[in-house]
Amino acid sequence: MQEYMIEGYLKTDRYLVNFNTEDLPSEFFDVVIIGSGIAGVYTALSCPRNTRVLIITKESIEINNSVLAQGGIAVSLDQNDSTDLHFKDTLYAGAGLCDDTAVKALVTEAAENIANLCLYGVNFDRDSHRRLSLTREGAHSINRIIHTGDATGKEVCDTLVSAVSCLDNVVIKEQTFAIDILTEKGECKGVLTTNEEGTELVAYYAPVVVCASGGYGRLYSKTTNPEVATGDGASMAYRAGAELMDLEFVQFHPTVLCHPENQSFLISEAVRGEGAVLRNHKGERFMEQYHPLKELAPRDVVSRAIFQEMQKNNISHVFLDITHKDKEFLENRFPTIYSKCLSYGIDMSKDYIPVAPSQHYSMGGIKTDEWANTNILGFYAVGEAACNGIHGANRLASNSLLEGLVFGRRIGKIVKENLDSIKIREGFKPKIKNDRKYIEKEIDCRSLIKRLQSVMNNNVGIIRTKESLNEAMETVMEISSLVEGVNASNVQMIELKNMLILSAQVIKAALTRKESRGAHYRSDYPDTDDINWLRNIVFRGEPNND
Ligand code: SIN
Repeated sequence: MQEYMIEGYLKTDRYLVNFNTEDLPSEFFDVVIIGSGIAGVYTALSCPRNTRVLIITKESIEINNSVLAQGGIAVSLDQNDSTDLHFKDTLYAGAGLCDDTAVKALVTEAAENIANLCLYGVNFDRDSHRRLSLTREGAHSINRIIHTGDATGKEVCDTLVSAVSCLDNVVIKEQTFAIDILTEKGECKGVLTTNEEGTELVAYYAPVVVCASGGYGRLYSKTTNPEVATGDGASMAYRAGAELMDLEFVQFHPTVLCHPENQSFLISEAVRGEGAVLRNHKGERFMEQYHPLKELAPRDVVSRAIFQEMQKNNISHVFLDITHKDKEFLENRFPTIYSKCLSYGIDMSKDYIPVAPSQHYSMGGIKTDEWANTNILGFYAVGEAACNGIHGANRLASNSLLEGLVFGRRIGKIVKENLDSIKIREGFKPKIKNDRKYIEKEIDCRSLIKRLQSVMNNNVGIIRTKESLNEAMETVMEISSLVEGVNASNVQMIELKNMLILSAQVIKAALTRKESRGAHYRSDYPDTDDINWLRNIVFRGEPNND
């Protein structure tokens, strides 16, 4: 992988709070997993039963981004499909930036992991021959998405959570916020956590720490992501000296409900997969002007097309039209979407659905190889928190849950293969402390977070320029100066600090990439530059007191 490495952009303390491991309450596990989405829970299930595994999650176990995934999971099962075709489609959507080795692992290990989900009891939709039903989404050249109605993420997560809850070797701690990973001599030793109020520090030590804490959608004011997606994992990894990669690639989903009362509800791409078309304010289809695949073009293309239609016509949204399908079909195939729309007075069998693009997925994250290893020994990343190169510059629809499965299982294999050395390290307690003096100050974190989200949305969104990015960076620096040296005494302050660190790197990466590629579009550099382009932009945090 060719890389363009830049030193971390915003200097930061190694740790966010004062502590001394000598005095901290602590527990020891073999594996500590941060995050309870599909990647975290499936990793826990994939670890050998004779390991002690801890899952920590900052909210309750069912609050995560995976639960909200509507569309499904991509897997080449059709007789005319193949892993090669899935590989090709993933690379095409990724706009030249995917890592071939990681994508190969993804597509070739897809089917065995889906079979495993079926063994756990995940109830995917099936046809009259009991075969898994396959639908289409953008940039897939064949029907390849397995699904459970329009609530696939929920079905998978519910099933896996109930499976993991029955395991004696797995402990789940909810309302447990991971502040920082603990490192000693460049090696990860565990995780420093606090409770909801930020008042009770506890250290969990383990030779294997897995970051599965999701993405950074909440850097944006308009997003489909839940409130927990504040990029904590990438920020804490950066503070510890981990590498972050491809942060400029932020995916905007083309069709998010645009109703005065709700602008974050996803209208799955599978609705277009079932034939829905996009119309502008005059009721005219417009996608043929933008891409030969029209409504099923790669997601970045459709989002940009909608955005341009909105700007050109000075309108706040366009419309999704699936009125050619009858009510019964829609109620059965899309029960969640149908009833949600109806609750706002929109009957999708008769009415067009108002939609606009909104932040949806973070392609960038903690850099890993195809076995989820980061550059810090003992520290792994998986799922949306990670960047292993499978999504490139634009994720192919329904490859994300699959990523959590394939690479979560790979971590399980690593743990199994290294069980002896993992067990040998049991009981080892590192000596780490942070005694920096912090200032006690009342800060209105909520309003600063809102200000940050709004500037990220307006200036670092679907279309960017040098000016818009520089302006956003100024705001980030200004807010950062307000909280510099202030004690992170509550979870909201920790989140704000995490969001600032990450926003600075996203903006710096977007400024550095002077071309347009996939989800990163610069109107001052509108072309893709395949000659002088930088491949992966990587930031390495610089721990100052490790
Ligand atoms: C969708 O259902 O449109 C979202 C699926 C995905 O993000 O891959």
